[in-house]
Amino acid sequence: NQVHVFAPATVANIVCGYDVLGFALDEPGDEVVIRRIDPPGVQLKEVTGDDGRLPRDPSKNTVSASVISFLNHIGRADTGVEISLHKHMPIGSGLGSSAASTVAGLFAINALMGHPLSRRELLPFALQGEELACGHGHADNVAPALLGGITLIRGYDPLDVVPIPAPPSLFASVVFPHVDVPTRDARQMIRAKVALKDAVIQWGNIAGLVAGLFAHDYELIGRSMRDVVIEPTRAILIPEFYEMRRLAMDAGALGFGISGSGPSVFAFTQHRDTATRITKTIQEYLTERGIESNGYVSGV
Ligand code: HSE
Repeated sequence: NQVHVFAPATVANIVCGYDVLGFALDEPGDEVVIRRIDPPGVQLKEVTGDDGRLPRDPSKNTVSASVISFLNHIGRADTGVEISLHKHMPIGSGLGSSAASTVAGLFAINALMGHPLSRRELLPFALQGEELACGHGHADNVAPALLGGITLIRGYDPLDVVPIPAPPSLFASVVFPHVDVPTRDARQMIRAKVALKDAVIQWGNIAGLVAGLFAHDYELIGRSMRDVVIEPTRAILIPEFYEMRRLAMDAGALGFGISGSGPSVFAFTQHRDTATRITKTIQEYLTERGIESNGYVSGV
């Protein structure tokens, strides 16, 4: 009568695919433990690793709120559960922190209740969690956190999630500079209108990136990792963004961009040792400038 689940961090957008492309990392991630208890209702027993930043009210915390929606949906609102959330990743980092917690909670409650829903059927509940966390229900973090690998959100209405195969050798270098960039703010500063000439460049790159992933064409993947719509605005919030890009590209990255809404950044590489080198180089550079950071290397 207890389930313990880990769900991974995710990198969304993959540069040009704002709100439509994302992939799962090996680490970091969050853990949720859900246990059956006698009194009916959803209780948030403990939250660790968040420095007290997340809501403790079960109707406001994304994990418990999505568990409540799930139990209502399956007609088991009378179930008693207590939830422990252990955060092992930074909040407001652009690494899909809320998505990892929400997905871990939903996966756990679904398992505890005997798997009444498929993984895909959990997605709408995870989207509600994102809406609660940052004011908008974007699926490009929750879909890869739940399904693994790279996912494309082909459409939101209705939700249409397409897994995209990764080439056999693709790695990600990820660096999180310790600067707070809340997704809610980073979304609000984006221009609502896009010039047609920019849209043409953007959709050419998205199609090129997906084609490159299918064809295992690393050159095409790299030259498609350009974002003329979102990145120019968001990069302003990220210290040393263009210098970090230069360092990554000089060290052999295929492409480089913002992870989620920042401040984390990531690079794709063809080899693990290149990703390791890039993470190290960028972190050393940030340290020299007095900016602390976390670094990760992951298969894609
Ligand atoms: N697609 C979302 C955004 C991801 O860029 O705002 C946030 O992690």
